[in-house]
Amino acid sequence: MSAPRIFRCPRDIIWGRGSIAYLENIVGKRAMIVTDQVLTRLGVTARVREYLQKGGLQVSVFDEVEPEPSLRTVMRMVTENKDFGPDVIVGIGGGSVIDASKAFRIFFEHPRLTFEDVHSLQGPPRQIIPPFTKTTHVAISSTSGTGADASHVSIVTDPAIPAKCPIVSQELKPNIAIVDPDVADSMPKEVMADTGIDALTHAIESYVSGMANDFSRGLSLQAIISLMKYLPPAFLDKDPVAKEHIHYAATIAGIAFSNSANGICHTIATKVGGVFKLTHGRGNAIALPYSIKYNSSVTGDLFTTIARAIGFDGDDQFLAVDYLIQAIGQIEKQLGIPDSYKKAGLPENLYYAKIADFARTSTTYPTTLTNPRQPTIKELESLYTACYQGDYSLI
Ligand SMILES: [Fe+2]
Repeated sequence: MSAPRIFRCPRDIIWGRGSIAYLENIVGKRAMIVTDQVLTRLGVTARVREYLQKGGLQVSVFDEVEPEPSLRTVMRMVTENKDFGPDVIVGIGGGSVIDASKAFRIFFEHPRLTFEDVHSLQGPPRQIIPPFTKTTHVAISSTSGTGADASHVSIVTDPAIPAKCPIVSQELKPNIAIVDPDVADSMPKEVMADTGIDALTHAIESYVSGMANDFSRGLSLQAIISLMKYLPPAFLDKDPVAKEHIHYAATIAGIAFSNSANGICHTIATKVGGVFKLTHGRGNAIALPYSIKYNSSVTGDLFTTIARAIGFDGDDQFLAVDYLIQAIGQIEKQLGIPDSYKKAGLPENLYYAKIADFARTSTTYPTTLTNPRQPTIKELESLYTACYQGDYSLI
């Protein structure tokens, strides 16, 4: 008998335009708002503070989370809030802000744990994060993509370590996710494109992952259907209904991948993005069709099911994969995303000089281990080359 698995997601998902007002109902005494300068300038932080105060909570604000938050920032938050002692943490912002609020919760509630204990670039971490008992964590996403409001991951950077450091634990899932499309309305267009395709990558990779299961696949499929249908009108026409659906789909895909897993596309995006400063979403967007092609030799009819859900009419697995790749390519074109790393402007000499290292370190990367097809170093080299040249015949 295989070990039982747990499906976990936020206890409450409050959704709909204007649902941020639910903050008035949060039970607690002292709330700490974790956010960034952008949301403070837009007046969102002040509104969050008002809702919490209406509910009778004292409020402190930390609005200095930077993109790709550092351990230093997280530990500063812990030091500055020791006396205040929040029993509610409200993380409102993009993935970086929500990740920072997750990491804060770890070191605030479990001061004996160190960063070295809980993060891991390979294999399990040194220490397991115990359940949280002192705080309620509320996450509100201001972008439609990362799924951080529902996921079990926090990425923190440390200048001493030349890689983004993931902390992965089911305990990190927020207790409450407020999924309010109004909060994401001010998202710049390029962010919508990049984070939207990040969400689509979560949905597709989690559907075919070695960790996928009956509970996660329905969510993956719904997120794929919504994102394929609504990303173009949300991006091109600012269609409010489309924007609403992509915002929900991002959270749905977050629940899906954090109860299944991502795959090789995320490995490639992380490696290439880390060296060439490409955004996570853009790195994924370019690698996604090539990853699908690579995986399609072992995924049976899974891609056929996805292709049928978005309009393919047939049974042939090869035609279904082509249909899916073409449909994604069309959407990415509409979103202004190039179809190769070369067209994205990555310098050829530097990229080629890195391929061997990318391939070698990709074999044991966590999202490679959960990919449906386990690649050899040679296959990875070909895949990285295909993504650069935009050439499927190399796979
Ligand atoms: Fe992602």
